[in-house]
Amino acid sequence: MEQLLVETPSLTYPVYIGENIRRHSAELLKPLLSKKSRALIITDSKVGALYGEELEKTLETILPTSLFTLPEGEQSKSIEAYEKGLTACIEENLDRHSVIVAFGGGVVGDLAGFVAATYMRGVSFVQMPTTLLAQDSSVGGKTGINHRLGKNLIGAFHQPEAVVYDTKTLETLSDNEWRSGFAEMIKHAYIKDPEFLHWLKSNVSTTEDMKNSKLLQFLKRSIAIKAEIVKTDEKEAGIRAFLNFGHTLGHALEKVSGYGQITHGEGVAAGMIFAMRLSNYLELSEWDINNEKKWLQQLGYPIDAPTLYSPETLINAMKMDKKSNAGKLTFVLTEKPGVPFLQTVNESDILFLLKEYKKGGDFQ
Ligand SMILES: NC(=O)c1ccc[n+]([C@@H]2O[C@H](COP(=O)([O-])OP(=O)(O)OC[C@H]3O[C@@H](n4cnc5c(N)ncnc54)[C@H](O)[C@@H]3O)[C@@H](O)[C@H]2O)c1
Ligand SMILES: [Zn+2]
Repeated sequence: MEQLLVETPSLTYPVYIGENIRRHSAELLKPLLSKKSRALIITDSKVGALYGEELEKTLETILPTSLFTLPEGEQSKSIEAYEKGLTACIEENLDRHSVIVAFGGGVVGDLAGFVAATYMRGVSFVQMPTTLLAQDSSVGGKTGINHRLGKNLIGAFHQPEAVVYDTKTLETLSDNEWRSGFAEMIKHAYIKDPEFLHWLKSNVSTTEDMKNSKLLQFLKRSIAIKAEIVKTDEKEAGIRAFLNFGHTLGHALEKVSGYGQITHGEGVAAGMIFAMRLSNYLELSEWDINNEKKWLQQLGYPIDAPTLYSPETLINAMKMDKKSNAGKLTFVLTEKPGVPFLQTVNESDILFLLKEYKKGGDFQ
């Protein structure tokens, strides 16, 4: 088992990463759980069916525990699902000394975290991520839900008190979920760690390679990068915004394709290449786009997905995203690996590039 510590101004907490450690979660979490009155595990239908009962029984050995299951998918990051989560807390008699355990992917983590942030003005919560993507979402304390007009528009910062990451559960993920999570790992490398990027490029050239024996090491490195960023900028006043690399177009693609068609990370991968093209076009970088694109396409990412939609539709979706500031589009761009910066970009430049994409222009 690997272990690291996330230090933020509001809370310091451990992250445990290892195979089958969900089975030892009672021991790992004992110092925390033994002080709590009750636990509510929030999960989704897929994860619940696979591992829910087992976890409930494990935690029951320490404190009264119940299980609340939401339908799987991004739809469960809705106001309605949030209300149901709160209702479960009330019906299960959770009080201010209770703990909520988020057991699932990023959707469950964000929703359960937001329930924990707001129920009785905030109760403890623990993240037990089950997707590769959740190596990113379970650390850092961003919780929230979607509004029908935009993603992640409602939320709170609320750090978990511990993260228990069982890599064994990743074995039941589909390949596009592997790709989704791996994109966030690649993103961490692009914005912060050229050496890690090189390591990933030399070890991973297919989706199958993502599941290799170095996974635990990759995860530890990726989480450490996230932890370092969150430590310096817990509330996204500065450098934490760099974590949005690839997300402006990524979120737009997720949205216009209808959530679930293009996974979060697949959209981010396409968005990262677009951001590189944008910074080259603005003469702020000299990325060898074809090279980067080739690697990501080999891994199965839908880099050309922006060509499937009209440029105007994509721009409108980007403007709705909270990462656009007062109608202007702010992008995270990268000069080269490890050197990200924020840039306000004219809509006309983005439109031009999206139109070039659609025409099939293979510009640098
Ligand atoms: N809070 C943050 O900092 C942060 C960061 C990145 C992403 N996010 C959010 O995370 C969400 C995406 O997360 P996700 O990709 O994990 O999506 P998800 O939670 O919807 O999981 C993807 C799919 O995999 C299934 N699944 C989960 N674990 C499984 C397992 N072990 N075996 C089989 N199937 C399993 C789920 O049921 C779902 O169908 C988005 O809403 C995004 O906004 C949040
Ligand atoms: Zn993301």
